[in-house]
Amino acid sequence: MSATANGSLTITLDGSNKSSKLPLIQGTLGPAVADIRKIYNDLGIFTFDPGYGATASCESKITYIDGDEGVLLYRGYPIEQLAEKSTFLEVAYLLLNGELPTTAESKDFEDGVLRHTMLHEQLRTFYNGFRRDAHPMAVMCGVVGALSAFYHDSLDITNPEHRRISAFRLIAKVPTIAAWAHKYNIGQPFMYPQNNLGYAENFLYMFNAVPAEPYHVNPILARAMDLIMILHADHEQNASTSTVRLAGSTGANPFACIAAGIASLWGPSHGGANEAVLHMLGEIGHVKNIPTFLEQVKDKNSKVKLMGFGHRVYKNYDPRAKIMQATCHQVLRELGIKDDPLLDLAIELEKIALNDRYFVDRKLYPNVDFYSGIILKAMGFPLSMFTALFAVARTVGWISQWQEMIEDPEQRIGRPRQIYTGAAKRDYVPLAQRG
Ligand code: CMC
Repeated sequence: MSATANGSLTITLDGSNKSSKLPLIQGTLGPAVADIRKIYNDLGIFTFDPGYGATASCESKITYIDGDEGVLLYRGYPIEQLAEKSTFLEVAYLLLNGELPTTAESKDFEDGVLRHTMLHEQLRTFYNGFRRDAHPMAVMCGVVGALSAFYHDSLDITNPEHRRISAFRLIAKVPTIAAWAHKYNIGQPFMYPQNNLGYAENFLYMFNAVPAEPYHVNPILARAMDLIMILHADHEQNASTSTVRLAGSTGANPFACIAAGIASLWGPSHGGANEAVLHMLGEIGHVKNIPTFLEQVKDKNSKVKLMGFGHRVYKNYDPRAKIMQATCHQVLRELGIKDDPLLDLAIELEKIALNDRYFVDRKLYPNVDFYSGIILKAMGFPLSMFTALFAVARTVGWISQWQEMIEDPEQRIGRPRQIYTGAAKRDYVPLAQRG
């Protein structure tokens, strides 16, 4: 399946006889797009779309979102079905390869990922360069970027086998990198991965275990972790994925590109929102304070946002948030936590916001980050690890999108234009003559 021509759109420049006939292109799902590539040649104008709200930057077959209906598909499969029936590694295979694996393919893929989980031993010493209290996302940006200094043998991006090996290495090693960032923070020895454990299970092992005693991963928590990873695996052309594609469009190696994606994910408007939600709930403190907090949110001068709410694409409930909310109840129940004041506060906050004109008029609904932090906190993760966990799960999405871009025959370096509003050309004034 590829995009098909579907009519055209003609634009005429007012006051001139210049016009441009722009082909309309239709994908499998979603609105048609106008191909504006020749508009500058035809009319001598650029298009202006800060934040890219109306711009399709690439053709992709990986993930589809219908923001109005609250639909999310990975390679055509609804997220609800994958969350219920699949596993993170199966979803990873699907995102990378386009189809669900057969039994043999699944075994090969899992063996491949689970056998590349160790880091080059010299990377251990790399961690010592960070302050003990370094944020895990800072460590992840640094260590993932540093992988390109350790795995020279797979950096030729024109070689499909190198791309495949790098993809395996990245997916396999990010959980180890993230778990070690935490161990470094708390001063415990790094735990080596155990290749007999599943992907999420191994991460929980490296995160929680200590060498002094045996550690058995709670299977309920391993399944919850796996599910959270499925929900975060890909989300089409969001800021971090676009960052990965833009960095990759220059021919940069995949480790450098994923490090760029991690940096982009870190911000509170994107992946950093899960951490920000818990800070926000902590600040609100009690249900009785919700109305005052929401007044601040609605006050345009306050710059306060309801974190975990709103999305550029979803103008309906984020389907991931629904699954996350149900998982939250389940995990708390299974952990024997009868009452979680944070969950009660979040539910009440959501209820009040969803009935408030401000949020209704702007179609602001809970997104994936609204409930994820509550689950992660209940599972024993410190707040600073929340976004790092998002990065671990999203790595497969980033690398799938990067691979797709490299293989796209239309791929060119990403290079947006601008409206220049600075000073017009002027002559240099020597210091002595400046007023
Ligand atoms: N709280 C209060 N007002 C909001 C919020 C919010 N969370 N989100 C959007 N609005 C308002 C915004 O001020 C604007 O109002 P007005 O029309 O009066 O100027 C209107 O809603 C439209 O919003 P926008 O700023 O045009 O939306 P955007 O697409 O540029 O931003 C967003 C999307 C996700 C950055 C934003 O909704 C936000 O900052 N949300 C909170 C942070 C968050 O939860 N981020 C996680 C996103 S999902 C996971 C991920 O991507 O990692």
